[in-house]
Amino acid sequence: MEIRRVRAIYDARARSYDRTVGFGERLLLGAFRRAFGAELRGNILEVAIGSGLNLPFYPPSVDRVVGIDLSRRMLVEASSRANHLRCPVVLAQMEADRLAFPDGSFDTVAISLALCTVPDPAATLREMARVCRPGGRVVLLEHVRSPVWPIAALQRLLTPLQERALGCHLTRETVETVRNAGFAIETDRQRVFGVFRLVVARPPLDTRGAMQM
Ligand SMILES: C[S@@+](CC[C@H](N)C(=O)[O-])C[C@H]1O[C@@H](n2cnc3c(N)ncnc32)[C@H](O)[C@@H]1O
Repeated sequence: MEIRRVRAIYDARARSYDRTVGFGERLLLGAFRRAFGAELRGNILEVAIGSGLNLPFYPPSVDRVVGIDLSRRMLVEASSRANHLRCPVVLAQMEADRLAFPDGSFDTVAISLALCTVPDPAATLREMARVCRPGGRVVLLEHVRSPVWPIAALQRLLTPLQERALGCHLTRETVETVRNAGFAIETDRQRVFGVFRLVVARPPLDTRGAMQM
């Protein structure tokens, strides 16, 4: 789907986004947002931050937060949540695969429920690796194609609907994409038949090498 179309979808849904995902999300994600937050340290970039649903789970010890998103209206929603954090927070409209930050700018680069929507997940991961400092960590909370075939079949059936509604693909094999991009996976937690994955990974040291993939 064209990026303009994805932006239009999220701009249009921004005000109602939290309400519409609320119940399903609590049921499906359980404590994964809290666990995601617990992995964040230091100077943080959250890519495709959306309405900022992770912000309440950021530890008080984080130094600085930068959140980027394609949709300006989702960022407006995020800004009201950001007010509660004690550290400086900067929100900016930006595309995930063209991050306007120098190499090695962040201790932690995080993303949740968005590698399913970006046009090229491998390109986004390369950018995330590039802006992460050497020795830093990338934290992902994503839904992926289930390893359980009836669930994967259902996901395949539902993908056209989901794509039309949210620009989102249900059958991406994101953990494999992370591995193929040269990341070293440290932990990989799963929920709901392996659909939801919380992954902590070290980016490849030579991001220029990874870019040639
Ligand atoms: C399903 S929402 C998830 C939002 C948030 N990360 C969360 O966990 O609630 C997907 C978000 O990704 C953003 N997005 C989609 N494609 C993007 C891109 N190419 N660059 C930056 N943000 C993007 C959308 O605007 C939307 O806010």
